[in-house]
Amino acid sequence: MVKIIGAVAMNMDNNHQDTAQPIARIVGLYKAFDQQDVLHGINIEFAKGECTVVLGPSGCGKSVMLKHLLGLLIPDRGEVWFEDKRVDMLAESELAPIRRQFGFLFQNGALFDSMNVRENIAFPLREHTDLSADQRLFRVKEVLDMVGMIESISKMPAELSGGQQKRIALARAIVLQPKVVLYDEPTTGLDPIRADSINDLIIKLQRELSITSIVVTHDLASAFKIADSMIMLYDGHVQMRGTPQEFRQSSNQAVQRFLNAHGTGDFATW
Ligand SMILES: Nc1ncnc2c1ncn2[C@@H]1O[C@H](COP(=O)(O)OP(=O)(O)OP(=O)(O)O)[C@@H](O)[C@H]1O
Ligand SMILES: [Mg+2]
Repeated sequence: MVKIIGAVAMNMDNNHQDTAQPIARIVGLYKAFDQQDVLHGINIEFAKGECTVVLGPSGCGKSVMLKHLLGLLIPDRGEVWFEDKRVDMLAESELAPIRRQFGFLFQNGALFDSMNVRENIAFPLREHTDLSADQRLFRVKEVLDMVGMIESISKMPAELSGGQQKRIALARAIVLQPKVVLYDEPTTGLDPIRADSINDLIIKLQRELSITSIVVTHDLASAFKIADSMIMLYDGHVQMRGTPQEFRQSSNQAVQRFLNAHGTGDFATW
């Protein structure tokens, strides 16, 4: 059980001095399904407090990589670390406290249709904390305020737009004060203005709560706006890691092909 005292405690939990240290690491990770090689010895360090964007064509293993971080998939070879814990060696019961350090924003938001916004966000608090009803409501309002959706507290998911649902899903993802938030295609399906407001929110949460962000996206405008560091996965390997500037200037063919295809909206080549 955790005690949640409020936003002040959240800021104290995470220390800005520790930025740029890896909070999670993938070392020499191989993963195949049946005969299909998906990840072929990838190494990635996710710097604490930073936003790492993972790019790569559909089917290259981005979501598979995210699942390894949570211990939802076990590597064929290699290591997965969260802080000083070897995630891939932990038993299911030992994984629960690790998973609690992560918030997830899945592509479809995945709110519970039968619950209103307050109940959706309070759900993880009911499951994982000993907070009273009043304390839960306080915390729900706190995160709704953070994502600019306080006026929707009594609405049902069906009454909200796609972008609003994403904001609520994001509020739910951070309600247990995770150290890391995983975003799998956070802006997909949103118009450019709503997509950009999600970008701003990712940046805001990272800055104000010192959250480490790991973002999988095809949306290059979003990637270049939010990334401190970018990784391109292709053909089972990390093709490149660098700053957005280094990516723009890269002569790596796979990177250039990806940037050109996505910059022009020509997804057919991938
Ligand atoms: N549990 C599984 N069993 C069998 N094959 C799987 C499993 N999970 C993923 N795969 C395969 O691994 C490959 C990579 O899948 P993954 O979902 O990681 O792709 P992705 O890079 O996230 O693609 P997208 O951008 O379309 O979401 C795909 O070919 C997929 O079919
Ligand atoms: Mg995916």
